Formats: sequence, C-alpha cells, structure tokens
Amino acid sequence: MFEKKDFLAIDDYSAEELHAILDLAKEQKPLARAHKLPHTHENRVLACVFAKPSLRTRVSFEVGFQQLGGNTLFITDKEIGMGTRESVYDVAKVMSRFCDGIMIRWFDHGEVLELAEHATVPVINGLTDLSHPCQVMADILTVEEHLGSIEGKTVVMVGDGNNLANSWLNASIVFPFNFVLACPEGYMPDEGIMQKAEAKGASFMVTHDAKEAVEGAHVIYSDAFYSMGQEEEAVKRRADFAPFQITTDLLSTADKEHIVLHCLPAHRGEEITDEVMDGPHSVVFDEAENRMHAQRAILAKLVK
Ligand code: CP
Ligand code: NVA
Repeated sequence: MFEKKDFLAIDDYSAEELHAILDLAKEQKPLARAHKLPHTHENRVLACVFAKPSLRTRVSFEVGFQQLGGNTLFITDKEIGMGTRESVYDVAKVMSRFCDGIMIRWFDHGEVLELAEHATVPVINGLTDLSHPCQVMADILTVEEHLGSIEGKTVVMVGDGNNLANSWLNASIVFPFNFVLACPEGYMPDEGIMQKAEAKGASFMVTHDAKEAVEGAHVIYSDAFYSMGQEEEAVKRRADFAPFQITTDLLSTADKEHIVLHCLPAHRGEEITDEVMDGPHSVVFDEAENRMHAQRAILAKLVK
C-alpha cells in the first residue's frame, strides 16, 4: 500500500514507487492469466466514471478489479452531471461515502484534480485532455517485457503533442530514457509540462522531422491524429499530420529490434499503416492487455 491516495500523473510518484507497481504487475500477470489471483479486494467497489467513450480503459479497469475480488460500477457523466447538475465538491463527498475508489475519464483535468482533492477515496486518472498516465504505465510495462528495461532507450512518439505525449514527458522526468516527439508545427505538448521536464533535467526533444526522429529509435509510439472531442478538426488534422504517418519505410532506420506501440484505438491507414500495425515489430495487443495488469497493480496499491 502507498501513502499517496491518488494516481493522477506519473511524476507524482518516485521511480521506486513506479517500479513497485510495475513489479507487482509482472508478478500478477501470469496469476491473472491462470485465473489464480487472490481476492484481496472483496467487498470493495470501484466506480468507473466516463465522460468519453472507451473500450480498453473500461474493460481493463472493470475486469482487473474484479480479478481482485472487487466489484465495479460503470456510470457516465450523463447521470452524474459533475460540475453541472451538482458541484465537483459534492460529487466527491457523496461518491466517497459509497465507493472505495474512483476511476475517471474526463475532459477537464482541473476538475479531476478537484475531485481528487475532495474525495477521501483514491481517484485514478483514466484519461483527461491533459494526460493518460495509466496508458503510459502499461506502455512502459510493455517496453520492459520486450526490451528488458526502459533505461537508456529512445522512445519516439510520431504524432500529436497530446495527452499521451504529455504523460510520456511526465514519465521522462522519473525514468532514465530519452523521449522524442515528432509532431507538425503548432501541435506541441503542454507548455507547463515541457517546462517542468526541462527544469527536472529530463531527456526530451521535440522535432518536426519524423524521418530524422526515428533513426536508431527503440520504441516507436503512435496515437490518433485527433483525440476524443476534436472530431471537428479531423479534416485539417489529417492534412497537417500526413507526413507523420507511421509506415514501414519511415521505420527503416529505427533500431533493428525496435518495437511499435499504439495506445489504440487506431485509425488504420491514417496515423499507422496496416502493414506496421500487423507487422513483426508491432506489440500493440500485448500493450492493450498490459493496461489491465498495470492498472490492477495501481488499484492493489491504492484501494484500501
Ligand atoms: N487506449 C485507451 O485508453 O483506449 P480506450 O479509449 O478504448 O479506453
Ligand atoms: N489521445 C487520444 C487517446 C485515446 C486513448 C484521445 O484523447 O482521444
């Protein structure tokens, strides 16, 4: 169990604490696959709150917590109306009386921070417009499984300076690897997070040249050109991001043993070709499965 209550950003935690989560995930993975996990969280309830669609986050949190003997509750913002029907403060107080943990997928990161501040149970960030820390924990677990360690590796995200880029930047503050974002001009990551990463001496770089960025890279990372809530920008973004599609040709200069990750859902043929998604370097479905193992470890450490 951790002293900290919430899981909101990767760099809220020390490298030691994050390694403890990853180690637990690795230890539990074979037990979970064999349906042999001990029920450490019987009679506990995890509320899973969604204001955006989801496949992986919903299923991996629900199944993962049920594997620990816990119960899960799925509820959307249509019912809750957090910040509209009633205040974030009141929602935090009420939910804390009913549930033992809250996983939330939301638009406004500030509202999730406010929820966490006033809730007395753990609040876990299941993606906001600013960040997606649970995804990057699963990504790091996948890198470690396939490449041994994240230490010293170069992770190149080709695409938008979005919530995933921000969480990778947060991770680069804590873990000793190099993060490179290759994005079009005007699609930079969060300024505050970049400043923090710089101040903390993280090894990161932003470039607008995808070809140059992937040279020698160990991990190539992909996400959609437009995120949930940006559907109206799809046409413009498809044009702006066209040179940032991940193709076999683009990857020809990456490290020979490189792996390809995509948080999914993928727009096949847009940010990544079928040939790469289904190719020998792609580990995207291991990565998807690892959502469950990484998050179950986070829940095991936080939910009392
Ligand atoms: N990667 C991810 O968070 O997937 P979902 O949007 O399906 O949850
Ligand atoms: N950047 C994407 C990630 C989806 C898992 C989004 O926010 O929609």
